[in-house]
Amino acid sequence: MQASAQILYQLADVHKQFLVGKQWIPVVQGVTAEIKIGEFAVLVGPSGCGKSTTLHMLLGLELPSSGVVKFRDRDIYADSTEDSRSDFRKINIGMIYQQPNWVKSMSVVENVAFPLLLLGHGRDEAHAKALEFLEKVGMVDWGGYHPTELSGGQQQRVALARALVHQPAVLIADEPTGNLDFVAGQEMMQLLTDLNQKHGITIIMVTHDLEYVKYATRVIQMLDGKVVGQHTGKEIENFLKVKRFKRTKHAE
Ligand SMILES: Nc1ncnc2c1ncn2[C@@H]1O[C@H](COP(=O)(O)OP(=O)(O)OP(=O)(O)O)[C@@H](O)[C@H]1O
Ligand SMILES: [Mg+2]
Repeated sequence: MQASAQILYQLADVHKQFLVGKQWIPVVQGVTAEIKIGEFAVLVGPSGCGKSTTLHMLLGLELPSSGVVKFRDRDIYADSTEDSRSDFRKINIGMIYQQPNWVKSMSVVENVAFPLLLLGHGRDEAHAKALEFLEKVGMVDWGGYHPTELSGGQQQRVALARALVHQPAVLIADEPTGNLDFVAGQEMMQLLTDLNQKHGITIIMVTHDLEYVKYATRVIQMLDGKVVGQHTGKEIENFLKVKRFKRTKHAE
């Protein structure tokens, strides 16, 4: 009972196949994994291995072909509708993608406040919360700008504030550094690490880049739709050592 209270997500033998023409293509092939509250989980694997499809199933966006996806011990697809799953996302999840989408007519602070307005909060309260979260990501001085006036790295920080402003149970990030240069990418990862460690925000991040695995407290390694390794704590360092060694050998 105690242990299961700490688990945020549980995937049990989850499969997903897509009909392409007349053929069913297996994309996720029996993923079993769990993510606990407070973790920084990184789902890593090469392009096309099924990472984003797996995330979509965590989000309630993609019905598994078989298997169960549980969030806080509840099957998110049982007795659900598109609407109920959309509500589930709005309340529980903060999401960032490779490229943020802005309401272009709105300023930075208005964009960040927007999710709260959608949830029915008053304007003043939403504005104050938006400033509070812009402060957390070091962007409070930019509130009056338009998002497109900012650099890619700054825009991702603002996107992060917008994803967190309604205080979701989890932040889900799909390749959040994909469009950033190396330095901005490292800054983004440091910010995510701080949010995880100092503010206890649970993070699930997808990447194909092993460089980012070092920030994780749990690594879920995928290949061809399957989980081929799960590592936590010290095991992550060992996993990275082996990977780096193999890469060096390969380069010789
Ligand atoms: N709706 C769909 N219909 C058909 N095939 C799909 C669909 N969605 C994804 N796929 C296929 O499933 C495979 C895995 O896709 P997915 O986007 O999950 O990979 P990924 O690991 O996120 O890759 P990347 O690192 O490139 O983002 C790909 O071959 C993709 O073309
Ligand atoms: Mg993807």
